[in-house]
Amino acid sequence: MRVIGLETSCDESGVAIYDAREGLLAQRLHSQSRMHAEYAGVVPELASRDHVRRILPLVTEVMREAGTGWGQIDGIAYTAGPGLVGALLVGASVGRSLAWSRGLPAVPVHHLEGHLLAALLERPAPVCPFVALLVSGGHTLLVKVERAGRYEIIGETLDDAVGEAFDKTATLLDLPYPGGPALEQLARAGDPARFSFPRPMVDRPGLEFSFSGLKTFAANTLLGYRHASDRDRLRADVARAFQDAVVDTLAIKCRRALRATRLSRLVVAGGVGANRALRQRLTELAREEGGEAFFPRAEFCTDNGAMIAFAGCLRLQGGEWTRGGFDVRARWPLDALQAIAPG
Ligand code: KG4
Ligand code: ZN
Repeated sequence: MRVIGLETSCDESGVAIYDAREGLLAQRLHSQSRMHAEYAGVVPELASRDHVRRILPLVTEVMREAGTGWGQIDGIAYTAGPGLVGALLVGASVGRSLAWSRGLPAVPVHHLEGHLLAALLERPAPVCPFVALLVSGGHTLLVKVERAGRYEIIGETLDDAVGEAFDKTATLLDLPYPGGPALEQLARAGDPARFSFPRPMVDRPGLEFSFSGLKTFAANTLLGYRHASDRDRLRADVARAFQDAVVDTLAIKCRRALRATRLSRLVVAGGVGANRALRQRLTELAREEGGEAFFPRAEFCTDNGAMIAFAGCLRLQGGEWTRGGFDVRARWPLDALQAIAPG
């Protein structure tokens, strides 16, 4: 089975072709981040309009790159939520129209399921069951994955998502949007011993997170040192202290989650999963727990079409597809999904 995947839930237009036997054949991404940088955040209407401009040329490009024609395509997968409704509608309407005109089945894909399964595109691929840490711009979840499609949320953030905390703290540090990668780079020059930020909610049991206080801590530290002569040094040291606190907190909760579920495999997903300090720390942690950590390559941590083509292919192989209607959802609980039937 060969599937085209379309991702348009936020500010990246992603298209990919995944073949169940041959693997990923081609993938392309257009990031809108430079367009939104001027506003220090995603402007939904601009995002939708840009997806309209980009999506069909990207489809043509991946088909050319994969050396495939419509006759060899067996289905179309598109992100149906959660995300920005106008942006989602672009992928849904293009996906549905292509499917209708070519007489192909189309399947709506849950964006977070795409993220969770992205590590399965890599080799060696993790096998179920595993614990997944999903850290993106909008979500911070610990998920017990018994099998593909069955997701039990065992921990969640009570306020900001990790990516959001990275982005807001980056803004305080005068870094361009999106802040995560820029903050990571700045933190490399920082002194880990100068400031110590709190590790939120680690002193009480459970797998819940809270990240909004860290951003405030960063703001107060910058305010307290506003007369410091070396502002660049200060920014790097604050970035380092913030990142260390986030990485530490996530590691503590991942260790707890592995122990509570008695599972040994940890799968990391979502944009913040591209962070090198986090990858290194979680790799060590899983090893200490007698297990193993799995990560998608950095470009598949952030939004992309490959994860949607892959998740859609699994669902189409399981006999799932829907007819008509642009069924997009701004909100869509991950644990409402049905297990994927074996293909
Ligand atoms: O998964 P994603 O691409 O989009 C959502 O579905 O939200 O995640 C984007 C988030 C942004 O907040 C971005 O700043 C963060 O992931 N991010 C990073 C890094 N790369 C992306 N955060 C920390 N370090 C990075 N290297
Ligand atoms: Zn995402």
